Amino acid sequence: MPASVSFNYIFSVIYAKEHSLMSTRKILVTSALPYANGPIHLGHLLEYIQTDIWARFQKARGHECYYVCADDAHGTPIMLKAQELGITPEQMIAQTNIEHQADFAGFAIHFDNYHSTHSDENRAFANQIYNKLNENGYIKRKTISQLFDPEKQMFLPDRFVKGDCPKCGALDQNGDSCDVCGATYSPTEVKNARSVVSGATPILKDSEHYFFDLPAFSQMLQDWTRSGSLQEEMANKLQEWFKDGLQMWDISRDAPYFGFEIPNAPGKFFYVWLDAPIGYLASFKNLCDKTGIDFDSFWHLDSTAEIYHFIGKDIIYFHSLFWPAMLHGAGMRKPNAIFAHGFVTVNGAKMSKSRGTFIKARTYLDYLNPEYLRYYFASKLSSSITDLDLNLDDFSQKVNADLVGKVVNIASRCASFISKRYDGKLSATVAEPQLLAEFVAAGDSIADSFEHREFARAIRDIMTLADKANQYIDAKAPWVLVKDDSKQQEAHDVCSMGINLFRVLMHYLKPVLPLMAAETEAFLNTELNWNNYQQALTNHAISPFKALMQRVDPVKVAAMVEASKDNLQPQVAAKAEASKTVKVEQQSLNASTEREPIAEKINIDDFAKIDLRVAKIVKASAVEGADKLVQLQLDIGNGEIRQVFAGIKSAYSPEQLEGRLTVMVANLAPRKMRFGLSEGMVLAAGPGGSDLFILSPDDGATPGMRVK
Ligand code: MSP
Ligand code: ZN
Repeated sequence: MPASVSFNYIFSVIYAKEHSLMSTRKILVTSALPYANGPIHLGHLLEYIQTDIWARFQKARGHECYYVCADDAHGTPIMLKAQELGITPEQMIAQTNIEHQADFAGFAIHFDNYHSTHSDENRAFANQIYNKLNENGYIKRKTISQLFDPEKQMFLPDRFVKGDCPKCGALDQNGDSCDVCGATYSPTEVKNARSVVSGATPILKDSEHYFFDLPAFSQMLQDWTRSGSLQEEMANKLQEWFKDGLQMWDISRDAPYFGFEIPNAPGKFFYVWLDAPIGYLASFKNLCDKTGIDFDSFWHLDSTAEIYHFIGKDIIYFHSLFWPAMLHGAGMRKPNAIFAHGFVTVNGAKMSKSRGTFIKARTYLDYLNPEYLRYYFASKLSSSITDLDLNLDDFSQKVNADLVGKVVNIASRCASFISKRYDGKLSATVAEPQLLAEFVAAGDSIADSFEHREFARAIRDIMTLADKANQYIDAKAPWVLVKDDSKQQEAHDVCSMGINLFRVLMHYLKPVLPLMAAETEAFLNTELNWNNYQQALTNHAISPFKALMQRVDPVKVAAMVEASKDNLQPQVAAKAEASKTVKVEQQSLNASTEREPIAEKINIDDFAKIDLRVAKIVKASAVEGADKLVQLQLDIGNGEIRQVFAGIKSAYSPEQLEGRLTVMVANLAPRKMRFGLSEGMVLAAGPGGSDLFILSPDDGATPGMRVK
């Protein structure tokens, strides 16, 4: 019933706009279900933070809103990963579920329920939907021929086949595409194919598969797509897919497979993507059964409850075609809208393990305050699907400038006077009612921005107000007023005014910064909410002010990147590099003089493995095309000369180095660099730049001596 769905949607949006404070909406919100075979990383977090802010906002407005999620626990990669670890898939997904939930909790992401697709509810819904689709004639069977690993006795998904490109002959390409010439092909076309799982040569084998008749829903989907349920960019993408024609969707996989067996089809399992979105229903049902919420009032065919799925742009196809078609074919209602976001890049590039920008949620939490990231993402998020760059310098600057420099600053400039001079109580008068009215009035448009997922716009408006509050305090200079006995009333009024302005801003920021908002509530002895924020606090006792947020410590940011590096080099090399980057950052930002945190402890045996030798620099020269490197020829005794490329050019010109003694790691595995082979590493210390000191042993040392 596309017409009624679009009507419902448009109606609910208008309704939301006009009546957001008057009437309660019923809203179910989901984020995509993360795969249960890997940790949560900062890319994922964009989505969960975006959804969490939106859900918190809806709840704060008084709506009946639930935010549910689950682990996506099925599929070949999960089965193989568990095998690799020597545990059952059930054990692995149970462990991952705990880790995922801890990571999310660490970022203050509040799910009303977090479940798993490997659950009774999900099996029941998957069977129910499949049976309905089957009864309604939407399931077809067809025998197809696929690559099979004769050793592992399993069919191979495309990405578990490798071989030579059938178009250009490039060696060792993926089973479905060539990185060299860009061709895409079927894994059966690959030359010299081999199984990634066992290395065996795959054979072709026939098997009957079950297909979902997606083309039968073409018209319904085209109508639904145009009904306002999708962002414009997404709708355009879909037009391309419609033009190419929709295909039958293969929904079965043969045993061995970790998933649900298809009813009346022994040895055939639902493909993971069939039961994954059904996991949204399962998680919500699980919540309903625990709490008594009426499941059907959300999901029955003509329910006016609103259902929204937040997803990344890579899984639009599944959510805007397969999922609504499955629901429709099974006689169920569809979601009101799919909200897709773009991808996170870090420092302008895809997250990379070697650059240390593939940052796990846990690693981030080991070093930084989760609300820095919540704020940064919010300050860049809009309703579009463009990618979002997490530039780590910009991240630090923005958090420091906005949250610490503007918002917290308002309170910290006023609070101590209130505590010390005015008995911890706000004054009886509102000094500038008009200014406060302006702050309060901005609430409508800020709420509108949150509602439409224009978080960046909301943040911009809030920061404009924060600037105004600071200008007000600057102009009144309470720190001058307090010194004048005749101006005590004014000083008290100004500081109280500042606190009241701060309160309105923190109220707006509460969905973004729930932890800092909770501390603010403790500080102000009042709850921040949409029903009371309009009235100023007068004659009101507040608690002593504690710093609500620290500046981002650049040393910690650098250490987090370092800890995220996938180090193929031995420890020492990585450490030497680490201390360098950490210190360079520290110096360039002129931050604290704190030293780099001590790394993980090693035992004496680990240390004994490092062969440190005195080396004489017999030759030093510049390296063309590398302004940081010096090429060194090191004599390490017994006539052995080693070539080492060292990043110390900022501190030493080559001439200064020749003839000097230094200490080198002599048993570092040689590394091929763009300029040649590097056969060790010299040790240096210092903050970086020109203050970098190569370690030179005392007089009397000779090349080759072991350093202990
Ligand atoms: N299991 C599927 C989703 C099933 S939903 C019924 C899946 N899992 S995932 O773990 O790969 O991704 C979970 C969500 O995180 C997806 O919406 C995905 O787009 C998002 N992201 C994963 N990496 C991301 C970035 N680097 N940037 C932004 N979002 C990213 O897909
Ligand atoms: Zn090729």
